[in-house]
Amino acid sequence: MALPVRKAVVPVAGLGTRFLPATKALPKEMLTVVDRPVVQYCVDEAFEAGIEHVIFVTGRGKGLIEDHFDYQFELDATLRERGKTAAAEQLDAETPGAGQVSFTRQQKPLGLGHAVWCARDIVGNEPFAVLLPDMVMDGEPGCLKQMMDAYNEVGGNIISVQETTPDLAHKYGIVATGAEKGPAFEITGMVEKPEPGTAPSNLYINGRYILQPKVMEILSTQAAGAGGEIQLTDAMLNLMESEPFYGVSFDGRTFDCGSKFGFLEANIMLALKNDDVRDEVRDLLKSLP
Ligand code: G1P
Repeated sequence: MALPVRKAVVPVAGLGTRFLPATKALPKEMLTVVDRPVVQYCVDEAFEAGIEHVIFVTGRGKGLIEDHFDYQFELDATLRERGKTAAAEQLDAETPGAGQVSFTRQQKPLGLGHAVWCARDIVGNEPFAVLLPDMVMDGEPGCLKQMMDAYNEVGGNIISVQETTPDLAHKYGIVATGAEKGPAFEITGMVEKPEPGTAPSNLYINGRYILQPKVMEILSTQAAGAGGEIQLTDAMLNLMESEPFYGVSFDGRTFDCGSKFGFLEANIMLALKNDDVRDEVRDLLKSLP
């Protein structure tokens, strides 16, 4: 029986230079997709999957994220005074409970692997999830829940993957796959941001991981890789030598909100699922020449 996954690491230290000037003062994770900040999608997804504690790895200027996941006394009181009880209760339900979030800092931008390693003491010696907030997922159930279901059958380490096109492969981690195992399949190799034409498949890592704690040990001595950064992909490649490693194919849609197009795509596609604006957005799209 695989040990339960109770904690999730959410790295939010990145600068968001692709969204300047919007992100001069605002953390990129606080940009809005329809009616909630980008970062809230993956936190909701984590709690839906049964995660009990979310560890944010933050950096300078990211204080708003901490405030966002706090209880806002004045807001709650004002909404209730004005009879907007449902709105107050919805906010309350979406706010993590006491002791369910932690914040630690990645002082220098040394890479995703380094950001995850910054959470090592809070994670401790147990399996944990990693959710990259830029990747907003639309799935039923959510991506991490789909992975948890597979994890409960096969254990080990699990990443979610989806198909990409050869022209986009250089932006992501790309995997090589082996035999199927129940709801998952073996991962036999992976490469971070492959040079054009060298990707081992068309399956990219779409930003959701369930990892065993040994990866933290590996990260503590992991050398810099692609882009001069300490890469989580390189540490996972190392981990694969001693531990079972699986992929699951995410049944749903991933929006890469780290890119302008992905962010706009998420806003349009998720607006079409939002009761308040669905009809108007559909009419607007239909009216386009
Ligand atoms: C990171 C990972 C990469 C993954 C990607 C998904 O890259 O290193 O393997 O495919 O996230 O968004 P980054 O976007 O930080 O460059």
